[in-house]
Amino acid sequence: MSVTLPPEAAPTSSAPGALLDLEAAREKRSATRSAEAARERTAVLEGLIARNPGEYRVLTGDRPTGALHLGHLMGTVANRVRLQDLGVEVFLIVADYQVITDRDDSGDLPATVREVLLDYLAAGLDPDRSTVFTHSAVPALNQLLLPFLSLVTVAELERNPTVKSEAEAAVLRQRRGISGLLLTYPVHQAADILFCHGNLVPVGVDQLPHLEITRTVARRFNQRYCATRPYFPEPDALIAPSTTVLGSDGRRMSKSRGNALELRASEDDTATFFRRARTDAERTITYEPEQRPEIANLLQIGASFTGTSPEALADEVGAAGAGRLKAVVTEAVVEGLRPLRARRRELASAGPRHLDEVLARGNARANEIAERTLDDVRDLMGMRY
Ligand code: TRP
Repeated sequence: MSVTLPPEAAPTSSAPGALLDLEAAREKRSATRSAEAARERTAVLEGLIARNPGEYRVLTGDRPTGALHLGHLMGTVANRVRLQDLGVEVFLIVADYQVITDRDDSGDLPATVREVLLDYLAAGLDPDRSTVFTHSAVPALNQLLLPFLSLVTVAELERNPTVKSEAEAAVLRQRRGISGLLLTYPVHQAADILFCHGNLVPVGVDQLPHLEITRTVARRFNQRYCATRPYFPEPDALIAPSTTVLGSDGRRMSKSRGNALELRASEDDTATFFRRARTDAERTITYEPEQRPEIANLLQIGASFTGTSPEALADEVGAAGAGRLKAVVTEAVVEGLRPLRARRRELASAGPRHLDEVLARGNARANEIAERTLDDVRDLMGMRY
């Protein structure tokens, strides 16, 4: 018996994945969106959001590897709260499956998830308006990973610069190979975003390559299964105005590097963190992000907490030097975080009941939406039995 392939499935070249490569080539022009382009697009989007917040749904999140730090707040958390307060619907994923992409031991996850929740709520996230949920509690979201994985090539996954650097770090830190989940987690992230038709993703620039994969998955799904009526949106990144926040060692602030200032830290620890912050040999304070990254970082932090610009703060401190700059920044951060820290202490001392309820409500809502999306996806793919 001979089997005839339908025309669209007939191999057009002997190389496996040739069809996908062809699609990739076609998309090349739009594929590499620089951080610069994303920033420009962000400025345009901000205008559209302010006029029409109801048109947007935000999906973003964090891996629960520990309590959140200053980099999270300045990078995206404050931005999420701002969007929520503008009237945009916000979904926040606590990405517990992402924790095991590059480590064997995920620590005490329930405790860590509660710490992250405390940070969200203390920062102003309102569970009556926004939805917080975890990967592992939403099976239908995870199932989207299967069709989505068929839409990208291994080469595309291997090219992703953020995955590359995370893989290198994992290999160095633990002398282990790269897990399949690490390689494919940007596609998982596409499921995180698309299950709820998220069309706005406030992230740091390091996440841009992932967002590009989400856009690719959405576009290819639509082309393949519903070309006349696109089902998934191609979400946009929304880049926070501040640049990367540096940790105590002058490298990007990150929990795993042990160089972070946690939001829950005491005022004393905050002062110590900034006293130890790196500076440079030049006395007069100037704002030169390229030549003087450590000073620029302090100026950006101080400026963002006092509502001024880094340039203006540099002028103000000027010849008084790095010691004075550190004092100004410490004061700004301690004052700026005081209400957040007070709310956090209050919520923490009330015990885990409220936090668990917030999460249970969020998980229930996410499940409802994910099941509906998975049903639609099965229909579009002709998998209805
Ligand atoms: N990868 C993100 C981080 O490490 C967390 C995350 C998971 C995320 N799923 C997402 C961010 C979806 C934006 C959209 O911080």
